[in-house]
Amino acid sequence: MKLGVNIDHIAVLREARRINDPDPLQALGICARAGADQITIHLREDRRHIHDDDAEAIIRHSPLPVNLECAQAPDIVDFVCRHRPHRATLVPEKRQEVTTEGGLDLKRDPAALEAVIGRMREAQVEVSLFIDPDPYAVEAARKLGAQWVELHTGRYANLWAMLHSNLPRTRHRIESLDLPRDKLRRMLDEEYARLASLAREAGESGLRVAAGHGLNYQNVAPIVQIPEIEELNIGQSIVARSVFVGLETAVREMKELLG
Ligand code: PXP
Repeated sequence: MKLGVNIDHIAVLREARRINDPDPLQALGICARAGADQITIHLREDRRHIHDDDAEAIIRHSPLPVNLECAQAPDIVDFVCRHRPHRATLVPEKRQEVTTEGGLDLKRDPAALEAVIGRMREAQVEVSLFIDPDPYAVEAARKLGAQWVELHTGRYANLWAMLHSNLPRTRHRIESLDLPRDKLRRMLDEEYARLASLAREAGESGLRVAAGHGLNYQNVAPIVQIPEIEELNIGQSIVARSVFVGLETAVREMKELLG
């Protein structure tokens, strides 16, 4: 399975001091050497980590294909069409969120979304839509003209953490504070089944399938077993581990888990 390494968090560390180091550009060669298949970055509307000049330089110099996550804001769509990363993954964005919280709402303004997808594809950029594992999403993504869907694994990851964490409090307790373990286990199994069935449906309808969000060294194995998923985009856990073992080892270890 292919690994897209999301390097936003290298820029997050840089922005903590608003200086020049660490430079996400330096990660490209290291990720390539460690066996990564893709570089993923998120050019957010508020430019809180990756800036335009980072994205430009990364697209220009990356030895690996670049997957640029972005919202549908007109200046960002222009940026994508001008700089032409290998792929654009459309995601919803909220200013206040710490990270992307949910999949795209494909019902809200399909005409606008279709126009954005059309423009990007005309510029020879592959388009992926970041979707929650909802039954209507696959058919909607296909009709809108996307070539890929990326399944949002955030709820799976949250449930996994709630079930396995021994900490008395975890930031993952978003569903409810005191769910019994057997109920949590059932919810995790149901979420996993939803992801697997949506991946199958997407694959059968001709869409290519990626997945990501909240995946880490502990919870990734079951996702790797879903045959239609070709690629995982993983950021936080790899960059977090790289603080202790270095980026090359952190990427290599994750790539080994993906097989
Ligand atoms: N995929 C998408 C669409 C995302 O928005 C993100 C977070 O930027 C990721 C994957 C990576 O998530 P994480 O950092 O939790 O591994």
